[in-house]
Amino acid sequence: MMAMKVGVIGAGSISEFHLKAYMNNPDVELYAICDLNEERAKEKAAKYGIKFVHTNYEEMLQDPELEAVSVCTWNNTHAPISIAALNAGKHVLSEKPLCKTVDEALRVEEAVKKSNKVFQIGYVRRYEPSTNVLKSFIDSGDLGEIYYAKASYIRRLGNPGGWFADKERSGGGPLIDLGVHIIDICWYLMGKPKVKSVSGNVYQKLGNRSNIQNLSFYKAADYDPNVNTVEDMANALVRFENGASIFVDVSFTAHAKKDEISLKLYGDKGGAEVDPNLVIMSEKHDTILNTEPQVDPISADYAVPFQNEINHFIECCKTGNRPISPIEDGVEMMKILCGIYESSEKKSEIHFNTEPQPV
Ligand SMILES: NC(=O)c1ccc[n+]([C@@H]2O[C@H](COP(=O)([O-])OP(=O)(O)OC[C@H]3O[C@@H](n4cnc5c(N)ncnc54)[C@H](O)[C@@H]3O)[C@@H](O)[C@H]2O)c1
Repeated sequence: MMAMKVGVIGAGSISEFHLKAYMNNPDVELYAICDLNEERAKEKAAKYGIKFVHTNYEEMLQDPELEAVSVCTWNNTHAPISIAALNAGKHVLSEKPLCKTVDEALRVEEAVKKSNKVFQIGYVRRYEPSTNVLKSFIDSGDLGEIYYAKASYIRRLGNPGGWFADKERSGGGPLIDLGVHIIDICWYLMGKPKVKSVSGNVYQKLGNRSNIQNLSFYKAADYDPNVNTVEDMANALVRFENGASIFVDVSFTAHAKKDEISLKLYGDKGGAEVDPNLVIMSEKHDTILNTEPQVDPISADYAVPFQNEINHFIECCKTGNRPISPIEDGVEMMKILCGIYESSEKKSEIHFNTEPQPV
């Protein structure tokens, strides 16, 4: 079988993980690359032996030989690029978040349905080996009914600046950037219950703290300490129709003692901690057991989940199978994220009931 011709749109930091993974997949030919910044695109083309370099994605999508694309651009361009690619008959793997608004999410969903092409959302944490191990325990009933999850992604200093700090291009701060990963993974492992309501608080209290000395953090290429229009911190309680709930808090900066990432699931037969290491809690013979499945920790090698994500995408393109992170899951997550921003603004809970509410 001929190798699939793949293009990557957006040649910044995350594209490196996509490009490497495509390069390692024997069924792929890295065929085209596109970035507004021509130098950046040319560098990647030289590094990965890519034939075609573009600065305009619409021009790139006109090539009938091109079969699939990864969308690795700023969040505000995910929806228009994904829709244009689907309309041009290409399979699409879009980075998270799906987009900035629920309206946009529904438009991408419509384009997916019309196109009959594969659309996969880059919820890379679903492709972690430890996630798959835990999912197999959950699917076998070891946790029973999961009724509560608690997820935290706290950076004491870590607003990346650049487009991440520009609400127009990012759609928001730590909630849409970090919250999307940890809410999604809880929701996925809980069996994707239907969201009923959200109550959230978003804070813009500390700014980007570019004044802090002697502590380093990741900065976007276009970092400018004077630009920051996103929240520093957010928290939320998400309720589901089956009665389950998630409590989440995230920050780009906060007066916290240290950075912290933790993810906990509570079921009626057992519990689990996913971060920082996988532990499964249970009860046997009137004794509580903490079991530590031996799996590489999350941060051991970021290349592994990206390789799994991209291999899965290519497999779906070849077989027509539905990806494990389909468009519907992107739409549901945009409802949750936008609901949290709206709840904070209105200072009240947001309900998603389709049935008419009593007045
Ligand atoms: N899955 C993960 O864990 C993860 C991690 C980091 C970033 N991301 C996501 O990846 C995306 C990119 O993030 P990044 O860190 O690589 O940012 P980046 O700033 O390093 O790179 C983005 C690139 O996109 C280009 N670009 C923007 N609009 C474009 C357009 N219309 N056409 C062509 N090129 C365009 C920019 O010029 C830039 O080179 C974001 O959506 C981010 O949320 C995901």
